[in-house]
Amino acid sequence: MMPTGKTVVCGIIGDPIEHSMSPVMQNAAFEAADIDWVYVAFKVGRESLAMAVAGMRALNLRGLNVTVPHKVDIMPYLDAIDPVARRIGAVNTIVNDKGRLLGYNTDAAGFVHAIEAAGLEVGGRRVIVLGAGGGARAVAYSLADLGAVPVIVNRTPSRAKSLAEDVARDTGIGASWSELTPAAVDELALSAVLIVNTTPVGMSPRSGESPCPSAVMRRDLAVCDIVYNPLQTALMRDAEAAGARTISGLEMLVGQGARAFELFTGLDAPVDVMREAVLTELHCGA
Ligand code: ATR
Repeated sequence: MMPTGKTVVCGIIGDPIEHSMSPVMQNAAFEAADIDWVYVAFKVGRESLAMAVAGMRALNLRGLNVTVPHKVDIMPYLDAIDPVARRIGAVNTIVNDKGRLLGYNTDAAGFVHAIEAAGLEVGGRRVIVLGAGGGARAVAYSLADLGAVPVIVNRTPSRAKSLAEDVARDTGIGASWSELTPAAVDELALSAVLIVNTTPVGMSPRSGESPCPSAVMRRDLAVCDIVYNPLQTALMRDAEAAGARTISGLEMLVGQGARAFELFTGLDAPVDVMREAVLTELHCGA
């Protein structure tokens, strides 16, 4: 559909942003829903964040997704923050409700969607979360809400400790933490049901790297990689080779995008159309 004078505009802000899958995913959804909406990627560096929010108000953009490096820094600029996003401490979706900017976190719902779609039971079980950034926060809180016991494993141990303490305080689940070393992952994996990678390790163009030693893989372990470009990361390849269950980051991407679409439009998201649009774009080598 060609943009018109009435077209409603949404988008995503971040830096880097060129390889974002959100524009193809959301525009495919708008088209399937037959609505006169468009979704654009805006490259916004840290120094321009305040101006970008003012621009959203001035231009009356209906919605924005927020990605690296703004998910935490955006929060003080918003008029209200949904309790889920407040607890996680990060916002990835803003809805402009007649001039009031409301912040949400749909990464958590996206992760839960991916775990449930895989039929994985994590209640009462240990789950290793690699990383302690914004993505890890959404994953760790979601896991605690599902009754799992997260172990936060991070390159910078102080960030792992701080996230584990936040989750334990807010959810009552005994989350723990460790520094990211091959030996630590090796030992923790023995009693874990799932490993979730929330670090960018393995992302194109450094797709040969894995955050986790391949020796930890075994048949009764599941592995979820938030990295979806490439679809088959080194971590996922090692997991598959050992017969472990794999949960693709694509499902989390589509899950968070579907929830954002619903917040923007008030309509049910065409999830299959969104997944297909991303797969097509990834196969085109975007
Ligand atoms: P996001 O909000 O997208 O999660 P982030 O806050 O920058 O992004 O967090 C990125 C995470 O990946 C961090 O846990 C980071 O570890 P540090 O806390 O030590 O910085 C982790 N990370 C990034 N590059 C990494 C690498 N090469 N090896 C291991 N961990 C890495």
